[in-house]
Amino acid sequence: MTAKKSMQDVKVVILGGSGFLGEYFHHYLQSIQAEPVVISRSRPCFNCTWHEMSNIELLKNQLEHISPMLIINCAAIASHEKCEAHPEKAFSVNAYLPSVLARWCNFHRIKFIQISSDSVFSGSDKFPFSETSDVSPIGIYAQSKMKGEKLVMLNSAESIICRTNFLVGIEGVKGLYTSFTIT
Ligand SMILES: NC(=O)c1ccc[n+]([C@@H]2O[C@H](COP(=O)([O-])OP(=O)(O)OC[C@H]3O[C@@H](n4cnc5c(N)ncnc54)[C@H](OP(=O)(O)O)[C@@H]3O)[C@@H](O)[C@H]2O)c1
Repeated sequence: MTAKKSMQDVKVVILGGSGFLGEYFHHYLQSIQAEPVVISRSRPCFNCTWHEMSNIELLKNQLEHISPMLIINCAAIASHEKCEAHPEKAFSVNAYLPSVLARWCNFHRIKFIQISSDSVFSGSDKFPFSETSDVSPIGIYAQSKMKGEKLVMLNSAESIICRTNFLVGIEGVKGLYTSFTIT
């Protein structure tokens, strides 16, 4: 008989849980009896607000307190326009945050999943793509996501990086949240 590990009671932190994908993860994990804890900027639940990038220590403290077995990072500046308008912030949220999380997970020997984007490819590259295909990101969003990927791999080679295409779905109900902001 194959030993299939159950997700029941597995504590999973989802960052960016107020976002489109984060909310889906939240509901999916609930549906399989995992124990999702959402960390989100705009929907507080543990009376905790993270306003400054310097407050990354606060996020780490939260993570220590929650003690998850897996972190899924859906937090990002996903708007290309916002990234072009605020490149520093784009790199801070899309590259620096994932690198900090990956390092934290590596140190604590827990799994880390970083959500990235197929926009690391320019669009003129040859199909089909593989994990080892050359990347050629165009624009700040794509460049910041690619930088995030590189820093994640550098800080935790065991991490999983998922490059998604357009996300499609409907919006659902919001649930258990704690809150943070990266400025
Ligand atoms: N949407 C797509 O079609 C698509 C395609 C390819 C890849 N992706 C990737 O998939 C992931 C999820 O995307 P999504 O569409 O779910 O994005 P989204 O709906 O825009 O959600 C982004 C999340 O990040 C949080 N966030 C944004 N800026 C922040 C900041 N400065 N500090 C802290 N949190 C911040 C948002 O919090 P607030 O709610 O408080 O703003 C929200 O929870 C991202 O990594 C994105 O790059 C998305």
